[in-house]
Amino acid sequence: MAKVKAIRGMNDILPDVTPVWQYLEREVRAVLSSYGYSEIRMPIVEQTELFKRSIGEVTDIVEKEMYTFEDRNGESLTLRPEGTAGCVRAGEEHGLLFNQTQRFWYQGPMFRYEKPQKGRYRQFHQIGVETFGMSASDIDAEVIMLSARLWKNLGILDAVTLQLNSLGSNESRLKYKEDLVAYLTQYFDQLDEDSRKRLDSNPLRILDSKSEATQAILIDAPVLSDYLDAESEEHFTRLTGLLDHAGIKYEINPRLVRGLDYYCKTVFEWVTDKLGAQGTVCAGGRYDGLVQQLGGKATPAVGFAMGVERLVLLLETLNVIPETEKISFDLYVAAETKESQASVMQCSEMLRDSVPGLRVRSHCSGLKNINAKARQTGARLILLLQSNEAGVVGTLWNEAESFTQIPLNELSSVVAEQWQIVKQS
Ligand code: HAM
Repeated sequence: MAKVKAIRGMNDILPDVTPVWQYLEREVRAVLSSYGYSEIRMPIVEQTELFKRSIGEVTDIVEKEMYTFEDRNGESLTLRPEGTAGCVRAGEEHGLLFNQTQRFWYQGPMFRYEKPQKGRYRQFHQIGVETFGMSASDIDAEVIMLSARLWKNLGILDAVTLQLNSLGSNESRLKYKEDLVAYLTQYFDQLDEDSRKRLDSNPLRILDSKSEATQAILIDAPVLSDYLDAESEEHFTRLTGLLDHAGIKYEINPRLVRGLDYYCKTVFEWVTDKLGAQGTVCAGGRYDGLVQQLGGKATPAVGFAMGVERLVLLLETLNVIPETEKISFDLYVAAETKESQASVMQCSEMLRDSVPGLRVRSHCSGLKNINAKARQTGARLILLLQSNEAGVVGTLWNEAESFTQIPLNELSSVVAEQWQIVKQS
């Protein structure tokens, strides 16, 4: 019988890669907690209406990428394609937004029916940050600084570039849209097919068209920054000033518009050229109108989400994952002789008690080829138990040297010392 397979674009994350995911998640948590952010967990399924009203009816996500279905009550539900909408819904529903300042973060799977390729999947994972109740550009700067700190801690800061733009207020953008449409209409026949369709529905998206012909036409098109209202301009100038002061480099990209409708003022993307076509590892911006659009009181907000798969790929490509993070255990304990076999469990338990944090894996099958088998595990420390006339003793290997005939009562101190050495190497 044919075997059932996973759904295209929805990947198993296998045990050889999960240590890298855990490492990344741990580093992200540490940075978020150092900025005082609180975790929020939302459901994976929401009412379809929520995404239509927030992301926008005429976006690629809502038009063609959502996993939408009817549940048994005939209600239209959707697997979340992103986290911002659900976070606003949850915040509003539980009275966390009005007249308050909040800094939330979340992580989990998102679903989009996109064409799967390297860095683009149908189930993918985001770690996102959403802040509420702060209108000044300090908070825009903070979320960007927070992400920059994370790249620095992960050792990937040199491989990513920050692209920055301001979309201005909804009113100023409307005027810009009109002029852009008027300009592009003159060249209608030369535009690519997608851009022609977008001319009516979502003209700003034409700015990031991949077509060379369309890009050539755009060279002389009106530029969004010329249309910024005074308040947005001041907001943006203050933000770039704060980033300059923090030593964070950025490129102003007047064509950066983002694919979701809820943004205003600041938008940004962290992009790498190391992953091919899917190079945006983190993206976000300000969405001051969304809470109100979803039925709440006007509440300023800014946030971003990073793509976990893309970051894992980047860490692997740049080879910056510390060796100790690539394996789930530090010490492998096995018996070399039948007489010492009974001590493996006891000894492993003793080491877990006496060396806090040490990750111990015990060998639980036969003695055959035990030396080779222990080495194949990739453990950086191996402890083989033997027995002599005095009882059970151990031999400990640390990659470079070995310590033989260690009596049981000295094992903890020798293992603890060697573990420190291995960790630092
Ligand atoms: P987004 O740009 O749609 O924004 O997604 C954010 C990040 O998720 C992308 O930069 C990328 O790294 C990752 N990503 C998106 N789609 C895929 C995919 N199909 N496969 C793999 N990774 C993907 C948002 O989702 C907004 N909610 C971000 C935000 C939060 N803005 C304000 N707050």
